[in-house]
Amino acid sequence: MAEKIAVYPGSFDPITYGHLDIIKRAIKVFDRVIVAVAHNYDKQSLFTPEEKIEMITEAVKDYPTVSVDAFHGLLMEYMKKAKATVALRGLRATSDFDYEYHMAAMNRSLDDSIDTLFMMTGKDYFFISSRTIKEVASLGGLVTGLVPDHVALKLQEKSIHKQKG
Ligand code: COA
Repeated sequence: MAEKIAVYPGSFDPITYGHLDIIKRAIKVFDRVIVAVAHNYDKQSLFTPEEKIEMITEAVKDYPTVSVDAFHGLLMEYMKKAKATVALRGLRATSDFDYEYHMAAMNRSLDDSIDTLFMMTGKDYFFISSRTIKEVASLGGLVTGLVPDHVALKLQEKSIHKQKG
């Protein structure tokens, strides 16, 4: 039987425990999960794609069925090449729904052999986003418990560089 492969796309600027919660649950459903960092030109990123990949790779190192990659261009094109049939997205609140609904519908009109699967973000993480994590960290606030320790360290390094620069 063909492998069930899911792609979990996102900006991951940076990866948080909210994302990891979705990944851990997806492992139970799919044979393979590819965490795919999108080169999203609309969004200004704090971290480079290489830094994001490094942080995600460290965060998922104990999960052998999870791999990390990056892609340019359309998600649907990337998924076809990766032979993945499901795009995985996390929903944090009803406010995410509109955006996600439109994106899923657009993706389906591009390729109807690929489905989007939504998972509810874990109750402990529904209030976090990469933007708020970056804001809190840059102002010296504690983000431990919301991101893995190596990510918290990277955020701290970026703030120090910014202060010096
Ligand atoms: N827990 C905590 N936070 C979460 C989360 C979770 N489970 N899931 C998402 N978030 C947060 C992210 O941290 C991010 O926060 P930010 O806005 O503060 O940076 C926010 O929710 C948005 O999530 P993200 O997964 O990064 O989505 P995005 O909207 O930045 O990117 C892509 C969406 C990459 C999937 C989409 O733009 C894409 O597919 N791009 C490729 C081009 C393409 O095919 N376009 C056509 C699509 S219609």
